Amino acid sequence: MLKIAALVGSLRQGSYNMQLALTMKERYIKKMNLEIADIRSLPFFDQDMELDPPPEVGAFLRKVAAADGVLIVTPEYNWSVPGVLKNAIDWLSRLDKVLIGKPVMTAGVSPGMMGTIRAQLHLREILASPGVQAKLLPPAGNEIMISSAALKFDETTKRLVDESTLRHIDRIVDQFIEFAADPR
Ligand code: FNR
Repeated sequence: MLKIAALVGSLRQGSYNMQLALTMKERYIKKMNLEIADIRSLPFFDQDMELDPPPEVGAFLRKVAAADGVLIVTPEYNWSVPGVLKNAIDWLSRLDKVLIGKPVMTAGVSPGMMGTIRAQLHLREILASPGVQAKLLPPAGNEIMISSAALKFDETTKRLVDESTLRHIDRIVDQFIEFAADPR
């Protein structure tokens, strides 16, 4: 079974994006082994530290390196990706450059109408940069951008419950599993 590391770009309790990641972990448990790779404990990236990084950085890099693919679930902050997520990607882009050629799919949730579209576009640019060069799931129709979150997540269970959104994600996850399993 494919091992997928999930990076979640929000640290807040009750984050919709974390709720989406946990919904996916549970819903696709028979298809993939999805584990959240915690970014909260990472220090700010500092080039002076990169050759001898603290243990939490090493553990994070090893976890992502060992995964067959990466899921990035992120909110949009000020029309881009949150700094904490960029910081995590900056760490991943150095030393062994563990994202090069790594299959990646992205997703995002917003309470508003735009579903993180601007953050997703920035994220695609970041993922194409020389130190990252992730193998991104081709975008045509394969984008998970969830708007109006309050209408689609259950306040009690803290999970995505909107049926048509879930079916949309089912289809994309199947494509990602095929894509991540293909070594080319
Ligand atoms: C936001 N939010 C936001 N929403 C959006 O659609 N576009 C944006 O540019 C921003 N900018 C922004 C900046 C900052 C600093 C914060 C804290 C918030 C609102 C954001 O989508 C909302 O808080 C989400 O609920 C954040 O995701 P989580 O924490 O629920 O996963």
